[in-house]
Amino acid sequence: MLIAVLSLKGSPGTTTFSVALAARWPSPARPLIVEVDPSGGDIATRFSLESSPGLLSLTAAARRNNDPAAVWQHAQALPGGLPVVAAPPDADRARAALSALTADQAAGVSILRAAANAADTVVVADCGRIDAGSPALPIVRCADAMVLLTRAHADDLAHLARRLPAIGRWNAHPVMLLVGEGYSSAEVAHELGVPPLGRVPDDPHGAGVLCGRPSSPRWGRGGPAHSALGHVAHRVAKVLVARQPPPPTLPHQWPEERQTTPALRAIPGVPANPVSINGLRLAPPIQVPDFGSNTSRGGQAS
Ligand SMILES: Nc1ncnc2c1ncn2[C@@H]1O[C@H](COP(=O)(O)OP(=O)(O)O)[C@@H](O)[C@H]1O
Ligand SMILES: [Mg+2]
Repeated sequence: MLIAVLSLKGSPGTTTFSVALAARWPSPARPLIVEVDPSGGDIATRFSLESSPGLLSLTAAARRNNDPAAVWQHAQALPGGLPVVAAPPDADRARAALSALTADQAAGVSILRAAANAADTVVVADCGRIDAGSPALPIVRCADAMVLLTRAHADDLAHLARRLPAIGRWNAHPVMLLVGEGYSSAEVAHELGVPPLGRVPDDPHGAGVLCGRPSSPRWGRGGPAHSALGHVAHRVAKVLVARQPPPPTLPHQWPEERQTTPALRAIPGVPANPVSINGLRLAPPIQVPDFGSNTSRGGQAS
């Protein structure tokens, strides 16, 4: 299974949540984080990893050999053994490597796709802040699910509303998560016509562990399994597993189904046709449970 985690604006915690999602993915799946953020990676610096192997060495290897097992060979281990293919911190190098990896679809994206297709495997791709020109977009397009993190203040949501119709065409299985305080899930669902799956709580201690802060509790005791952030990540992972599309019975039916699946309509419980092909239409107010406990209002929805 391939999960693309991304944001549109600011720094809502995409990398932190990607690590949380992989760390808390339900067994028996083997999780692998691949940092495919063209603005440069953070995980290697945060966890004092070696500069290689990582995304650079994977990109070079993918040119020579399209064996999906190679993806695992370019991973390093985070505390607790969680494997990560880390991007270089330098934005120019990260973008160049990612562009090379995804420009040649046959050698690049398909190696991640094939690695994610292996039984009991989940590849969590941290795509960073994304736009239509991002070299990570081919990964979003071929992912089994797209997890969009957004803060829930008026400016974040206004930005999201403008881009929602385009974003909805990137992936047939989108999930929206609000981060921190701001408008409630029900208000966002009402205003955007798309209900968030839940809310990632503001959890500095939980985030500190997932960012490798030396002052934070260690990975095991007090780690992701015990934090509010880790708890939400586990809930989200379980929903994504439950929604995983079944493998096609007839291979020739698959591309057709992919093309006709209406974007941003694939969430169970979503009112029919929340987003028309011409843009947004308000959905009726619905109650959406928040995973996190901090659901304060950011003001009157307008
Ligand atoms: N849920 C959270 N609660 C509190 N702090 C967080 C949370 N998620 C991330 N952070 C902090 O926010 C900063 C940016 O997080 P990061 O995951 O790198 O964001 P992004 O990848 O979107 O740029 C880091 O210092 C991280 O520790
Ligand atoms: Mg990041």
